[in-house]
Amino acid sequence: SGERTQEVDYASGNRGSRVQVYGRVHRERKQKGLCFITLRDGHGFLQCVLAGDLAKSYAMQILTRETSLMIKGEMWEVPPGAHAPDNRELHADYFEIIGEAPGGEDAITNRVQEKGDAQTLLDQRHLLLRGEKASSVMFVRDAVEHAFNVKFHELNYIKVAPPALVQTQVEGGSTLFNVPYYDDKAYLTQSSQLYLETVLPFAGNCYCIEKSFRAEKSLTRRHLSEYTHIEAELDFINFDDLLTHLEDVICGVLEIVLGNPRIAKMLQDLNPDFQMPERPFKRMKYADAIDWLREHDIPNEEGQPHHFGDDIAEAAERRMTDIINRPIFLTHFPAEIKAFYMKKDVEDPRVTESVDCLMPGVGEIVGGSMRMYDYEELIAAYKREGISAEPYYWYTDQRRYGTSEHGGYGLGLERFLAWLCKQHTVRDTCLYPRYMGRCKP
Ligand code: 4AD
Ligand code: MG
Repeated sequence: SGERTQEVDYASGNRGSRVQVYGRVHRERKQKGLCFITLRDGHGFLQCVLAGDLAKSYAMQILTRETSLMIKGEMWEVPPGAHAPDNRELHADYFEIIGEAPGGEDAITNRVQEKGDAQTLLDQRHLLLRGEKASSVMFVRDAVEHAFNVKFHELNYIKVAPPALVQTQVEGGSTLFNVPYYDDKAYLTQSSQLYLETVLPFAGNCYCIEKSFRAEKSLTRRHLSEYTHIEAELDFINFDDLLTHLEDVICGVLEIVLGNPRIAKMLQDLNPDFQMPERPFKRMKYADAIDWLREHDIPNEEGQPHHFGDDIAEAAERRMTDIINRPIFLTHFPAEIKAFYMKKDVEDPRVTESVDCLMPGVGEIVGGSMRMYDYEELIAAYKREGISAEPYYWYTDQRRYGTSEHGGYGLGLERFLAWLCKQHTVRDTCLYPRYMGRCKP
C-alpha cells in the first residue's frame, strides 16, 4: 500500500502512538546534541527527533540529504510554534539506513533549483523532482487531471481512448511526427478530435485525456513536442453552448481542485495571487483583437501594425492577455489561419465559429470550434487544404450517416498548469518535458 506510516505497537494516550516510518532525508539539522530530520515519504513531511546515543552515532554524523531510512519511535503532537509539519514530531528510538546519498554539491535541494542553469536542471530533473516546488507542481497536476475526470463524469460524458498511431492529420502537415508502421507509414496523433467526433453518434458527449504530438520547430516557453491534451466533443449544440460549457468546465475543475486542502495549500505557495476567474469570461472577436492591438501599438511578427488575416503571434497574444488580465474567449478567427474542419460563421463567411481561451501569463490554453457538418463543404475543405480525402473516409462518413451540429475543444494540460501554478514555462509542468533538442531523461 502507498500508506507507509503504520502503527505497529501500542498507542498510549498522552505519549503518542508507536510508529515505524520509511522515507528520505529532505533536510537535516544538528543542534545541542539532537538531530532533527525532515523525512519525506511522498505523502508529506515528518519531523523526526533523534537524541542521546542515536544522535551521537556515526551514521547520524555523516547523514546526507536524500539518504533513505527507516525510523521507529513515538509520534507526538507538538504546538504550532515548533515548526513541525502537521504539528507532529516523531521521537525516534531506532533507525536503519537503507540507502546512502552522495550529499555535498550533489545534494538535490530547492537551492539547486535556484542556482542551476536551465539545461543542467533539465538533465537533473529526476533529482530536481524531489524538491518541494517541482514536486508540488506534479501533485497539483494529478489533482487537476483527476478533477477533469470528475467534472466530465458529473456531466455524464463518456471517456474514450483514441489511437496515438494515426494516418490522418488534424492541425496541419508541418508539425507531424512520422513513424514507420510495418510496411506502411503513420503519424503520431496531433489531436484526438476527429476520433471523438465519431463517438458522438453512439455515446453522445465525450472526452479523452491523451498525449498529442507536435514536431514544433520553435523553442518557446509554451510548446512541447509531446503534451497531454484534454479534449471534449459536444453534440447538438451551437457556438454559444460551447463557450458556456467551457467556462463551466474550467471553473468547475478549479473548484474541485481548490476543495482539496493539501493542493490548495500548494497552490497558495506556488501562486499566491491566484483568483478564481469571473464568469462570464470576457468575449472578444478576432477582428476586435486586431483593432485592440493596433490601438495599443503592439506590432505583428514583421514589426508592422496588425491587419485582419494576421496570425496573432505568441508575444502579441500574451501581451494583450496580460494587459486585459483576465481569461478571454477570443472568437471568430479567419478561415485561412485556422484548421480545415472549422465551421464558417453564417453571418460572416470570412470567419469561423472558433475560440481560443487565453489566460494571463500564458496566452492560449484552449483551442476549439464548431465543426463543418455539411458533406460538400467538408470535401471542398480537404481540397483547399491540399489533403487527399481518401484516408479521411471515416471522418467524412459522419456527414453522410446522420450529421449534426457539433463542436469541441482541446485544452493543453501543461499550459493550464503553467497558468494555475504561475510557472514560466510548460517545461516545468510535466514530468519529463519533450521539445526540439530534448528527449531525455
Ligand atoms: O489549438 P490546437 O492545435 O487545437 C486542436 O488540436 C484541436 N483539434 C482540439 C480540439 O478541438 N479537440 O491545440 C489545442 C490546445 C492548445 O490550445 C494548447 O493549449 C495545446 O493544445 N497545445 C500545446 N501544448 C503544448 N505544446 C504544444 N506544442 C501544443 N500545441 C497545442
Ligand atoms: Mg490553437
